[in-house]
This record gives sequence, structure tokens and C-alpha cells, in this order.
Amino acid sequence: MRLILLGPPGAGKGTQAKMLSDYFGIPHISTGDILRAAVKEGTLLGVKAKEYMEKGLLVPDDLIMEIVKERLEKPDCEKGFVMDGFPRNLYQAEGLKKILEEKNIKLDAVINFDVPKEELIERFTGRRVCPSCGASYHIKYNPPLKENICDKCGSELIIRADDNRSTVEKRIEVYEKETMPLIEYYKNEGILISIDGTKSIDEVFKKLIGLLRGEIQ
Ligand code: AP5
Ligand code: MG
Repeated sequence: MRLILLGPPGAGKGTQAKMLSDYFGIPHISTGDILRAAVKEGTLLGVKAKEYMEKGLLVPDDLIMEIVKERLEKPDCEKGFVMDGFPRNLYQAEGLKKILEEKNIKLDAVINFDVPKEELIERFTGRRVCPSCGASYHIKYNPPLKENICDKCGSELIIRADDNRSTVEKRIEVYEKETMPLIEYYKNEGILISIDGTKSIDEVFKKLIGLLRGEIQ
């Protein structure tokens, strides 16, 4: 199964990607998580990426394409993958197309999560993330079993550096300008599945699995 998850910041891409990754036994590839890890480690990539991420802007395409190309070479991707947060603009979508063509493989589906702007803000204000494994929680909608501790790895949860009001607004603006055109792009490719992302996490997941297994239209 080769999947791409599309949607505005806070739509639930990371949450559903982790669940899909467990369900299908395929790697979850989040360019955002890879960049955050690089920032934390202080690598050259991290130093370059940080100034863009802090402002809610896209990290330059050449850096992103290199990350994705390298990641897709890893043997675990032979089983498939679920991409979260990539591609983010038409240039990246075309770049991915070329990489996949070279490998002679095709995407199975691009899932677009529909969530209105007003609902996104509440998701950001309640989000807590694990700095070690990248798991995403919400204080109201998806709380950890033990307050502020990651269920999966036991690390202390944090608020993401770019989850403040002004950066969030910029990220949404960048999404509308740069990423939204990909909805039309993948619709034209005939592989777009749009899903109502305002339902509960479990309802969204159930619907998703039904659609991907061809059990519902
Ligand atoms: P990235 O990490 O990709 O962030 P994003 O796209 O802004 O999306 P988020 O991670 O904020 O949201 P999400 O959809 O994953 O939501 P989540 O599941 O956590 O990118 C960050 C930055 O890195 C970018 O701004 C850019 O600078 C850079 N970058 C990354 N990729 C790039 C690329 N390809 N090109 C260039 N630059 C790139 O859910 C949100 C909250 O809601 C959580 O609290 C969750 O628990 C809760 N929630 C989830 N689903 C539901 C539900 N159904 N009901 C109620 N609550 C829910
Ligand atoms: Mg995410």
C-alpha cells in the first residue's frame, strides 16, 4: 500500500498516518518529523530548516526532495509507505512522480482530510507531541493514559514550537496557497479520496480502512 496524506495543518495526518502504518505494516514517512529530529540534533539540515519552520514557511524544495529520495531507498519502503506532509506543492509532486516512475511503482491513493479552518485552531491549542517518537495527542480528543506522558515510549510530552497562534495562521495560509492545488492535481490523476476529517479519530480511521479496502464507496 502506497499512500499520501494531504490536508491542512492540524487535520489529523500524523494521527491517521501512525494508525495506517500499524494497520498495514508499512513505514510512516513524515517530512515534518524528519525535519524536527534534524533540528533537535542540530545537524546542517536542521540548522537550515529551523528558520523556515519557525516562521511557518515551507523548507526549500531541494532539501526536501533529497530527504524523501534517500528515505524511499530504504528497504522497508519495498512493502509500501504512508507519506505525511509530503508533497507540499506542485514541484514536490512532480519530483515524487519522477522518483516513483524510476522505481516503476505507483501510488495507490492520496487521502485528503477535509477540516474547516475554525476546527483546526482548537486542534492546535490542545495538541501535545512526543519529542522522541513523534506521537501526537490532544488534551481533550486524544489524551495520553498518564497525563503528559507518551503512551508509546514514556517520554514527557511537549507543545510543538510552531503551534503558536501566529505561526499556525501562517502555516494555514501557506497550505492554502501552495498545497491545496494538489487536491486538483491528484483528482486529475484519478487517485484522490476525500474524507470528512471532522469526525472522531476512530471514525475517520474506520472510514479510511473501508475506503482503502474497497468495502465502501
Ligand atoms: P508538518 O509536521 O508536516 O506539519 P503540518 O502539515 O503543519 O501538520 P501538523 O503536523 O500540524 O498536523 P497533522 O495533520 O499531522 O495533525 P495531527 O495528527 O498532529 O510540517 C511542519 C513544518 O515542517 C512545516 O510548516 C514546514 O516548515 C516543514 N515541512 C514539513 N514537510 C515539508 C515539505 N514537504 N516541504 C516543505 N516544508 C515542509 O493532529 C492535530 C491535533 O488534532 C492533535 O492534537 C490530534 O490529537 C488531534 N486530532 C487528530 N485527529 C482528530 C480528530 N479526528 N478529532 C479530534 N482531534 C483530532
Ligand atoms: Mg503532523
